Amino acid sequence: MKHLMSPLDLSVEELDRLLDLANDIEANPSRYSHSCEGKKLATLFYEPSTRTRLSFEAAMLNLGGSVLGFSSADSSSAAKGESVSDTIRIISCYADICAMRHPKEGAPLVASMKSSIPVINAGDGGHQHPTQTLTDLLTIRSLKGKLGDFTIGLCGDLKFGRTVHSLIQALIRYPNIHFVLISPEELRIPDNIRDEVLIKNHQDFREEVRLEDAIPELDLLYMTRVQKERFFNEEDYIRMKDFYILDKEKMKLAREDMLVLHPLPRVNEISTEVDDDPRAVYFKQAQYGVYVRMALILTLLEVEVC
Ligand code: CP
Repeated sequence: MKHLMSPLDLSVEELDRLLDLANDIEANPSRYSHSCEGKKLATLFYEPSTRTRLSFEAAMLNLGGSVLGFSSADSSSAAKGESVSDTIRIISCYADICAMRHPKEGAPLVASMKSSIPVINAGDGGHQHPTQTLTDLLTIRSLKGKLGDFTIGLCGDLKFGRTVHSLIQALIRYPNIHFVLISPEELRIPDNIRDEVLIKNHQDFREEVRLEDAIPELDLLYMTRVQKERFFNEEDYIRMKDFYILDKEKMKLAREDMLVLHPLPRVNEISTEVDDDPRAVYFKQAQYGVYVRMALILTLLEVEVC
């Protein structure tokens, strides 16, 4: 049985097939509307979510299946002390596939070891968010026509931002990608990503503090929120939270064809005045998240669509 814990669980060929399937779903949604009839998706969310949980649920409903689950630890028996291992054994009796978000790194992996259904990591602490990465890759490939041959700026909270960690791991497998890692000193990319992923793979990258210095050369700008929930004290968060604000003035420094992505939710790091700029694609990106999660459910459940 296949689970999805990290974007690297899929080979480049498997990823290409998944993204092709997502594009076909986008083009021909009715072809897939009954493909998961009788199947159930469980969403086990121990942490808040809007996009990931609801796009998983929309994905399964679009495929003709059903959904069940919980949206916070407080509304599950985790509040009574039930372990993730016991919970997944129970959910395996109720559903065919599950998506789990948890504040502890590795919790979905623990669940996958006890599960008799496919488990999808829907975000574990500051570690990984592989389905956001699938969303990001589909967005980039669909709008730029390729994965590779670009300079991408990753801006904001690179320390705690799990979407950035997963995206870097996925992108280093494509040719001629240059990373510009834009963050305050305190929120730089963790050593394990810098040393074990970027340096070990001889990946071209550099670090910057000022967004203005990097933006003119970028093909893609991936903005991220400062992750309030991962800070140990409120004071540090308040000091960091408005370090970057992408506004119309900064967009004037960018290329005409630079795309702005953001996994969302945003707080202040992208001014709403940027939303109408045709280069701002973060809401379109959220829509791609539904197509790619539909493709992932079909793939993990090994559903063939004629
Ligand atoms: N991008 C993302 O993970 O959003 P949610 O936290 O709303 O799921």
